[in-house]
Amino acid sequence: MNPQAEFPEAFEICQQFTISHDQMIEVIERMTKEIKMGLARDTHPRSVVKCHISHVQDLPTGLERGKFLALDLGGTNFRVLLVTLISDSESDMISKTYIMDKSLIIGPGSELFDFIAECLAKFCKDHQVERDNLPLGFTFSFPLRQDGLANGVLTAWTKGFSCDGVVGKNVVQLLNEAIARRGDLKINIVAIINDTVGTLMSCAFSSRNCRIGLIVGTGTNASYVEKTANTEMLQNFHTSSKQNMVINCEWGAFGDNGVLEFIKTSYDKQVDKQTPNVNKQTFEKCISGMYLGELVRLIVVDLIYRGILFKGKSSELVFQKWSFETSFISEVESDAPGQYRNANIVLDKMGLRQATDVDKRCLRFICQTISTRAAKLTSCGLVCLINKMNANDVTIGVDGSVYRFHPKFHDLLVHYVSKLLRPGYHFHIVLSEDGSGRGAALVAAAAVSNKQNPSKYTYQ
Ligand code: BGC
Repeated sequence: MNPQAEFPEAFEICQQFTISHDQMIEVIERMTKEIKMGLARDTHPRSVVKCHISHVQDLPTGLERGKFLALDLGGTNFRVLLVTLISDSESDMISKTYIMDKSLIIGPGSELFDFIAECLAKFCKDHQVERDNLPLGFTFSFPLRQDGLANGVLTAWTKGFSCDGVVGKNVVQLLNEAIARRGDLKINIVAIINDTVGTLMSCAFSSRNCRIGLIVGTGTNASYVEKTANTEMLQNFHTSSKQNMVINCEWGAFGDNGVLEFIKTSYDKQVDKQTPNVNKQTFEKCISGMYLGELVRLIVVDLIYRGILFKGKSSELVFQKWSFETSFISEVESDAPGQYRNANIVLDKMGLRQATDVDKRCLRFICQTISTRAAKLTSCGLVCLINKMNANDVTIGVDGSVYRFHPKFHDLLVHYVSKLLRPGYHFHIVLSEDGSGRGAALVAAAAVSNKQNPSKYTYQ
């Protein structure tokens, strides 16, 4: 395939999305600066990569045991789980997924929390644990400011959520109130964690050198293990007896202060304008599943208007915002070179039934451009964290639909991280499943054990 010769106009548009090696190094430097600002007390208030303290300080030891409830809220579905930690390598999980109506995602917060409490109550009754006061770990995948493991104030909604009356509130309290309104449930919420933290913990259960949890799904974010001595935002941080603190970077907001303008295209700006959180989550909007499909669609539409793609035979659907799902990118790129089986299915779903082979190759090229840029930027973030920790042998646990289903995302990450990392540094990128189940249970287990042995903390 020679894109420049075959479809020069598309090639030219896609050039705008190319990030050079030097630009990647620039991204790493800028992110490093932002992370340092997030961690330091005097610069934290004006930082955009907030580096929230998760209050998770214990990485799994393999000794965690017991039965725990877990909740998972962060995307289009909501899940309740019952997790049993059986041995240092075995856990058992029962879960139920509840589909969330759009009205819950954008409606009043009280309805969202009543819904969560109702699902939890039904699930507990089904499994006869509604009166057991089981410890619960809540995976809540939005930015939270936490001053303890079991509380967290929502700082902003992301990923299309916009429920009223939740920003600025303690989410655990909102859930406890919803549970109390029902009166039929006895639950002990011991921890609220970000999905990246759950992913890190779940991965660290089997890979003891796991130090980064990464999500590339509907949204993107990472958490990593920092020295407690560097976490100025933790009260009495300098006297904590525990060496480690997991930091929830909230890197999706990187660039919200303009430092990523040099890589943004007019298409990025257009996508941003169509979202409920304009000028927010800049990095996330270049990387995650909520937005990648729309970037592809906007380029395609541009080429249709210019009379280049699907000559005179396009569809109505392709002009509808958000109609090109990010999963389509994975499908199109899964075709073997020269084959169009998946591309045909996607084009058919989009109502584009008379595409030529050149159209199909062009679509594939656009998809590759967008996913490669996402992988490059994610790699920059990972390298920034590895350098920050100065970790020369580290495992990175990853989850999320883009990472899981895109045929090359993993390989692209490995390729670009290797290119950007200092020589002699080793890393492994592994799929980390069950962050919101096993990961949340591991955090809950540590919370229970710390409560029983409070002397482990030696705050001044
Ligand atoms: C949220 C993060 C979350 C990420 C991945 C972002 O939109 O702000 O808290 O970890 O999505 O789910």
